[in-house]
Amino acid sequence: MIKANSTAITEQWLGGISYEVAFWNNVYRWPHTFQGLMSWAHYGSVISLEGFDANAFLLTQDHPKVYDVGAGLSYAVGDHLDKEGELIPLDIHYMDPLANYFNRILKKYKKTLPAVEFGMTEYLSAFIPGDASLITIQNALDHSSSPIKGIVEALVALREGGVLYLNHHPNEAEIEHYKGFHQYNIDETAGELVIWNQSEKIYVGRLLGAFASVETKRMDNGHIVSIIRKQGDDVSMPAPLCKYVDHQADKAELCEVLLRYQFHNTSLVKNMKNSFRFGMFNVVQFLAQMLPWNLKMKVKRLIKQA
Ligand SMILES: C[S@@+](CC[C@H](N)C(=O)[O-])C[C@H]1O[C@@H](n2cnc3c(N)ncnc32)[C@H](O)[C@@H]1O
Repeated sequence: MIKANSTAITEQWLGGISYEVAFWNNVYRWPHTFQGLMSWAHYGSVISLEGFDANAFLLTQDHPKVYDVGAGLSYAVGDHLDKEGELIPLDIHYMDPLANYFNRILKKYKKTLPAVEFGMTEYLSAFIPGDASLITIQNALDHSSSPIKGIVEALVALREGGVLYLNHHPNEAEIEHYKGFHQYNIDETAGELVIWNQSEKIYVGRLLGAFASVETKRMDNGHIVSIIRKQGDDVSMPAPLCKYVDHQADKAELCEVLLRYQFHNTSLVKNMKNSFRFGMFNVVQFLAQMLPWNLKMKVKRLIKQA
């Protein structure tokens, strides 16, 4: 029952790819949107995270290693440390399940930015060998097919005392009417991190227990920021968490998704529908990203309210 459900959710997640790719393709296509993005991002400067002094934390770490998961092509997280006024390059990895598409976009628009590495939250410990000091997930955990699994996987991928930093807009799935990648809401209630949708509601701190501490705050701009610290390796994973890192179940699910996907794609009609979706979103994003920033924000608000 659980397996069938998670397979269906993963398939639904696959349906969100075309929109995401079209978005980044057109942000990079237009010089004004690309420049806007780069002026907002911290690429080339000191790591800076809302509500968390990442620089101070990383200076306490031996050979600090950072992974920006669900990075998109935003390069939002800075790639340097400031040690007593000296800028030191940071060992940072930009990771995303759409890495293949994103690296093609970098090449197409001739951008000399670091390549995006392949990896996804649900299976993060398979991509990060337990050596991360800091994992950041911003506006991406609520895009994944299983955010709780993503959090537990990230904790496994962290070194002892490492931090998982989350920053999200509240309740995006509700606002987006559970379309595309948005299947879960992230919110804060009385200082607790809550992940929910129409069928479940999970208080993350309660679930993680002694395995990790969770500090959650709602920033003045509404963003939900969580700092999740992995406790010592001597604290073993509580039993309710073990089902989220079940490699056998993962293999079974991934095999099934792969084969079902192939089965559906042998149909000419499905193939054509898929290509049409990519083309349609590309045209929509071509026009949307062409607009000046202020007008685009107004249109976006109107669409969200519809
Ligand atoms: C809105 S973008 C956020 C990009 C960047 N973190 C930022 O804040 O600008 C969401 C990103 O999450 C990625 N994503 C979707 N599902 C994911 C998953 N299961 N694991 C990791 N990243 C995922 C998408 O490919 C996309 O690049």
